[in-house]
Amino acid sequence: MTPYVADPVYLNGRFLPLAEAGISPLDRGFLYGDGVYEVIPVYSRQAFRLDQHLARLQATLDGVRLGNPLDVDGWQAVVGELVASAPWDDQSIYLQVTRGADDKRDHAFPPAGVRPTAFAFASPLVTTPAAVRATGVAAITVPDLRWARCDLKVISLLANVLARQQAVDQGCAEAILIRDGVMKEGAASNIFLVSDGILLAPPKSRLMLPGITYDVVLELADAHGLPVKIGEIAETELRRADEVWMTSSTKEILAITTLDGQPVGTGSPGPLAGQMWQWYQDFKNNVMRKG
Ligand code: PDD
Repeated sequence: MTPYVADPVYLNGRFLPLAEAGISPLDRGFLYGDGVYEVIPVYSRQAFRLDQHLARLQATLDGVRLGNPLDVDGWQAVVGELVASAPWDDQSIYLQVTRGADDKRDHAFPPAGVRPTAFAFASPLVTTPAAVRATGVAAITVPDLRWARCDLKVISLLANVLARQQAVDQGCAEAILIRDGVMKEGAASNIFLVSDGILLAPPKSRLMLPGITYDVVLELADAHGLPVKIGEIAETELRRADEVWMTSSTKEILAITTLDGQPVGTGSPGPLAGQMWQWYQDFKNNVMRKG
């Protein structure tokens, strides 16, 4: 059976088999969810938008006052080594940094001598099968119960986990988070709408993760002359949209065709979802797979 995690993994400066990679149960990632992460897609053994992912990692570390255990060159080397060792051409690289393990449990930061824990591994990139893309996926709406810094990519994901599980329990692929009547994003994706031929995107704010895929979608819309409106999206607009898409590094662009049991638009993926997906593939092929 193909393993989900490739050997070796990276832990605190060393590359070693997953089975030998151990951390203390007093690690603050375990005790408090006190840490940050990134998920980076790799196509044809090239990390996609690595600089942007590492910049978002730094922004999140700054946001939670956690020192970066590696500089950009260091992370590039770790990612390069993982990508080269893994058996797949297309991969997903997971990076995590926690505030390390003290010898006691205390909410406040540990003494300066406690080193952050840095962990990273490669797994195969599992993209959406064509048959699922052809029908689109179902989603539900749920109240956004997260904290007030959703722009930080932190590992404390309990509200996201519960929202996604609520969707899965109802046979759905994603939960769309609604806060004060406003659509924010998915449990693990950004959300776009199409209404009357215009691409609607929620603005970046502290209540939404600034997706790397979100940026690529907006760049592609601009490059191809697709009209875009960036602004707060009311729940009512979501419900009457012609198209709803979820986007992320692993899902790419995926049409949501059922929302809370009701069809979105015609109930089939709309033309612009297919168009954007194709632009995204072409873009990837141009920047990643040439030569
Ligand atoms: N999640 N919003 C949330 C809450 C997310 O967790 C993600 C990604 C995104 C999309 O970001 P990007 O386009 O940079 O992948 C938006 C990753 C894939 C995860 O948690 O596994």
